[in-house]
Amino acid sequence: MKTIFVGREDEILPFQSKKIVLKKGAINLEGFIINYKGKFFGYVNRCSHISLALDWGDNDFFSEDKKFLLCKNHGALYDPETGYCVAGPCAGDSLEQLSLKIEKGKLYCSLLQ
Ligand code: FES
Repeated sequence: MKTIFVGREDEILPFQSKKIVLKKGAINLEGFIINYKGKFFGYVNRCSHISLALDWGDNDFFSEDKKFLLCKNHGALYDPETGYCVAGPCAGDSLEQLSLKIEKGKLYCSLLQ
């Protein structure tokens, strides 16, 4: 699986995110990396309910209270640490998680499969 450079870890401040593009065969998949309470997590930007991006192109993934990731389409709420949908039309499903690693302050990402 191809690993891509995301950026320096200090570029993504707490409760902020950065979008990336990953290749899956010939397909480009959009992903996003979040800083949740100082820890980094990454997901494919595709809701479990309908195959739509969670944000509306504005790189804004957190709910207003910052406790969840929010799908702006129909309001699904996901646990930022696991991608598990805790409320909404896809409750019980999960976002596709990305593999992340940090080396010398630099973040790298790849698809899990
Ligand atoms: S597309 Fe995300 S909740 Fe419907």
